[in-house]
Amino acid sequence: MDKLLIKGGNSLAGTVEISGAKNAALPELCAALLTADSVTLENVPALQDVATMLKLIRNMGVQAERSQARPSTVTLNAGALSSPEAPYELVKTMRASVLALGPLLARFGEATVSLPGGCAIGSRPVDQHIKGMQAMGAEIVVEHGYMIARLPAGQKRLKGASITTDMVTVTGTENFLMAATLAEGETILENAAQEPEIGDLAEMLIKMGARIEGHGTRRIRIQGVERLHGCTHQVVADRIEAGTFLCAVAATGGDVVLKAGRADHLDAVIDKLREAGAVITAGDGFIRIQASGRMKAQSFRTTEYPGFPTDMQAQFMALNAIAQGASAVTETIFENRFMHVNEMVRLGAKIQIEGKVAVMEGVEKLSGATVMATDLRASASLVIAGLVAQGETMVDRIYHLDRGYDQMEAKLRGIGADIERVRS
Ligand code: UD1
Repeated sequence: MDKLLIKGGNSLAGTVEISGAKNAALPELCAALLTADSVTLENVPALQDVATMLKLIRNMGVQAERSQARPSTVTLNAGALSSPEAPYELVKTMRASVLALGPLLARFGEATVSLPGGCAIGSRPVDQHIKGMQAMGAEIVVEHGYMIARLPAGQKRLKGASITTDMVTVTGTENFLMAATLAEGETILENAAQEPEIGDLAEMLIKMGARIEGHGTRRIRIQGVERLHGCTHQVVADRIEAGTFLCAVAATGGDVVLKAGRADHLDAVIDKLREAGAVITAGDGFIRIQASGRMKAQSFRTTEYPGFPTDMQAQFMALNAIAQGASAVTETIFENRFMHVNEMVRLGAKIQIEGKVAVMEGVEKLSGATVMATDLRASASLVIAGLVAQGETMVDRIYHLDRGYDQMEAKLRGIGADIERVRS
């Protein structure tokens, strides 16, 4: 298993190019299942999760090629499908595989998708996905760990429905959105997620001929059409990758421009960074952060977009760990998303967990140690902590990081970090 060796203490300066968003690319790769025509996706990040999704859909019979000249461009064709199935071996490594359910049911009238099972940050059930597909007329049984879904005999298409989820779910909203594009009649999604990745998926589907209104709001209306056609779509920039670099620079000090960063997708995080003392300016296609001296610790609660993202909680906690003052961080989305805390404590952070709240007291310095990454964003937070810690930090199990960050260590090295991958 590869590790990252970081020698802390360097401030960061220069330019980083932000990649396409993991959480947009994954549903958009699945959206290619909705049409027999070719679909071209541009700005697809080079990530393990994208590789897993490509494996999943190729396994179904989709042709998927990365362009040799421009590897971030992927062309997909789901003209002929051999097996509409997402097996456990792939779903267990990436929960987002459940995104195949909606498109498969909508286009082929059947889908067999493994239940995801447990995951490091919580139990993460898929009951809402099942409930929504049932509302659209699918018959679903759970057998041998699989959701086996099909349309009733004689029925060719899903039926439009009004779906109100019990909680806001990002991939749930995406599954319903994709399924509804080919359903008969109108679908209304109430309590829909408003994340920018949903807006980006909706724009792609509209290019494919879907009729969608209200994406980016709590209520999305979809008029089903009989067929969708191919399109070319550029994956939106990754706001979580951008937010991670912003926290890194705020923690180490420095002056960095994030090319292609979308400040309008990061308001909650940028507000907190400004309150902490960072100077952030932004324009069309860039975000610049300048930070010097110790930041002021910030309390926050994670909530659905446009609130503070749960996917930025751990990275901001790394900043709070060495900031001035006390802070309280409340995680409201996932029940077990403080796995990085014990590792940060090993680096010298002062953090206590009380239920959903992490109470932190900023310390003047962290000291390097060997730490273990436990999930994707936790890994990023340990890298940030390593960048500011005195001496050497070894971050183990970075396959978590590789799932969702496109060449993070190369990008960090490019702006002055002393970081290298130790291959094993
Ligand atoms: C997506 C993101 C992930 C992010 C999360 C919250 C992708 C590929 N992943 O995950 O990076 O951390 O949103 O912003 O886009 N829930 C249920 N039943 C369901 C569905 C969800 O109980 O059927 C619960 C979950 O356990 C969680 C909450 O709802 O507590 C929100 O989860 P959800 O928005 O669905 O997360 P994901 O879409 O899996």
